[in-house]
Amino acid sequence: MRIIVTGGAGYVGSIVTAKLVEQGARVVVYDNLQFGHREAVHPDALFVEGDLANTEKLETLFALHGFDAVMHFAANTLPGESMEKPFLYLRDNVTNALNLLQSAARYGARKIVLSSTANLFDRPEKIPISEDEKIAPGSPYGESKHLIERMLHWMDRTMGMRYACLRYFNAAGAMPGGDRGEDHKPEYHLIPIVMQVALGQRSHVEVFGADYPTPDGTCVRDYIHVLDLAQAHILALEALDSRSRVYNLGNGRGFSVLQVIETAREVTGHPIPALIGPRRPGDPAVLIASSDRIRRELGWKPRYPGLRDIIETAWSWHRTHPHGYETSQPGRDQRSAGRPTQRAANMRFPSWMTIAETAAKQGRDDRTGVGFGNQG
Ligand SMILES: NC(=O)c1ccc[n+]([C@@H]2O[C@H](COP(=O)([O-])OP(=O)(O)OC[C@H]3O[C@@H](n4cnc5c(N)ncnc54)[C@H](O)[C@@H]3O)[C@@H](O)[C@H]2O)c1
Repeated sequence: MRIIVTGGAGYVGSIVTAKLVEQGARVVVYDNLQFGHREAVHPDALFVEGDLANTEKLETLFALHGFDAVMHFAANTLPGESMEKPFLYLRDNVTNALNLLQSAARYGARKIVLSSTANLFDRPEKIPISEDEKIAPGSPYGESKHLIERMLHWMDRTMGMRYACLRYFNAAGAMPGGDRGEDHKPEYHLIPIVMQVALGQRSHVEVFGADYPTPDGTCVRDYIHVLDLAQAHILALEALDSRSRVYNLGNGRGFSVLQVIETAREVTGHPIPALIGPRRPGDPAVLIASSDRIRRELGWKPRYPGLRDIIETAWSWHRTHPHGYETSQPGRDQRSAGRPTQRAANMRFPSWMTIAETAAKQGRDDRTGVGFGNQG
């Protein structure tokens, strides 16, 4: 199967790419590296640096590869930021998805898996949150994902494109073995922040409120191991032969902020000082997604449901990569790696590409300049 993975140099996308490649898929990663890392892309995937706003480049790519399926991760991803910059989300996330869908439709890619979000449910009536919960996005970020879900609905109705939307909260953990993990700059997610305290890169972690109606007073959230997430994406893609699907995805258990910090203390052996601060506006006390439907229909079962497993793999990644992907290639400026002068020297193609395709790529790149920078 030929698959384009947008955002495949990012945290979740790079790990899904690695699992797809391991299963024999031919993967092309399309990422503008605004948040991603070239080093995170599996060497047997073809990496193409580009932005989803660049429709010409997208079309060229779809025309050349004849993708069967799309996995769409590339997005602006921060609910908090989206409250300050709504158009970055309501315009860019949505238009970029539209560009992608248009190319997919035009060139016959009939299956798409969307990384959606549980931020579709701002004030759920029932916990754990099921697919029947009323959609009420909690931010322009959540709204942008909702709008993309609606586009997919109409792609199915009007042209038979099959889609799966996976809605989840907090992806966490790393690939056991430690070669791919979370590296967001700046970092806003609790577990990596706690890991940075354990590494001595931050003095403490701030806890936003300890007076919630939860057992220890801190917010309870749903953490899902990134490998379980990858498995869900792959199962969802396989299930698209029959019909489109929407799944909420969580590990079935919630963990409080203090539980996360306490488990990290045990795993790292570091005291991890925590300071209790005021509540953040808009933070609900408990958010946990139900995964009953995906378990029942696709047989999905998390392999790493325990907080300790999640934090152990995260710690293994952060300990060996204290500065993220920069650690693995010190001094490398990945954003300059695709400059035309360096391109020829950097070019390398995965073994699955035919000689003709490789030649076509090199020719196209020289001719139009729109193609395939930073393949190295
Ligand atoms: N990480 C989480 O906890 C979480 C939770 C729920 C949903 N999600 C969704 O999962 C997806 C992946 O999240 P992540 O944490 O891996 O994010 P990430 O920022 O690590 O990865 C996103 C990738 O997309 C790329 N990208 C962004 N805009 C682009 C554009 N216009 N053109 C090309 N590439 C672009 C970035 O460079 C980055 O590599 C996102 O869609 C996010 O909304 C993530």
